[in-house]
Amino acid sequence: MTGEIVVHSTIEGIRHRLADDRARGSSVGFVPTMGFLHAGHRSLMARARSENDVVVTSIFVNPLQFAPVEDLADYPRDLKRDTRLCVEAGVDVLFVPSVEEMYPDPVATSVTVAELSEVLEGTSRPTHFAGVATVVAKLFSIIGPCSAYFGEKDYQQLLVIRRLAADLSMPIRVVGCEIVREADGLAMSSRNIYLSADDRADAPVLRRALDAGVASVEAGGSDPTEVEAVMAGVIAESERAVIDYVAAVSATTLTTERPLAGDVRLLVAVRFDSTRLIDNAGCRVGA
Ligand code: PAJ
Repeated sequence: MTGEIVVHSTIEGIRHRLADDRARGSSVGFVPTMGFLHAGHRSLMARARSENDVVVTSIFVNPLQFAPVEDLADYPRDLKRDTRLCVEAGVDVLFVPSVEEMYPDPVATSVTVAELSEVLEGTSRPTHFAGVATVVAKLFSIIGPCSAYFGEKDYQQLLVIRRLAADLSMPIRVVGCEIVREADGLAMSSRNIYLSADDRADAPVLRRALDAGVASVEAGGSDPTEVEAVMAGVIAESERAVIDYVAAVSATTLTTERPLAGDVRLLVAVRFDSTRLIDNAGCRVGA
């Protein structure tokens, strides 16, 4: 489907448009992104398209979720290409606010999701999830009642947002979508373009480590330290990969359980030079 797309850059404009849609009884599907779109984002749009009358995508590189040392200024942007991809994906409405539109004043109100935000990514990036939760709360407030689509690629983010919506009784159905990968197993990410050719060649080691971890859990491995050692051992096969963390944790709380039981999530974060990649996989002990 390649129809017309309407682009809004103001909060007032998109609110009016969606109020009209809802008055006509249309359901709204929402895909929040930071742009530089790829097949991972497109899969969320396809899911939203199949389940809703109106599909909205936002593109906003949110300064609040980048630490001062991180890649905010260098974050890749290509609005023309992104708009084309959204048209091809059947998106009806694109919301592209400026930083001034979203944050006209210094932010005094911040949303913090305790515990879930403090582990894994939260250890490496202590202010990250407050930045994500705050912008997503704003976006949910702007877009209104909807089904909102998030990738399992950012599994911890998905849990944080589910919890945010539940705790604040937001009229939002949060939908988790499967990870989309390159042919060699590397999870698609806007940041993959920063990998050197050598790093790109080694990057599928994340997926291989997760596969080995899943195999060991499914074979009955219930000691998280042993499962983590299996994954770290595979990543060590690449001399270029520097482990930030490898974790075998409860899929719902992201805390370490000894022994592992029920739904387990394996998560890895690895640096190749200055590019940091994350990936994860789900499994069950003895499944
Ligand atoms: P961004 O990194 O642009 O990702 C937007 C959405 O696409 C997220 O829900 C992410 O999990 C999903 N996604 C990215 N790569 C994917 C892949 N390979 N397979 C499936 N889904 C994938 O995540 C953000 O933006 C921001 O933090 C945001 C939620 C927009 C708040 O600023």
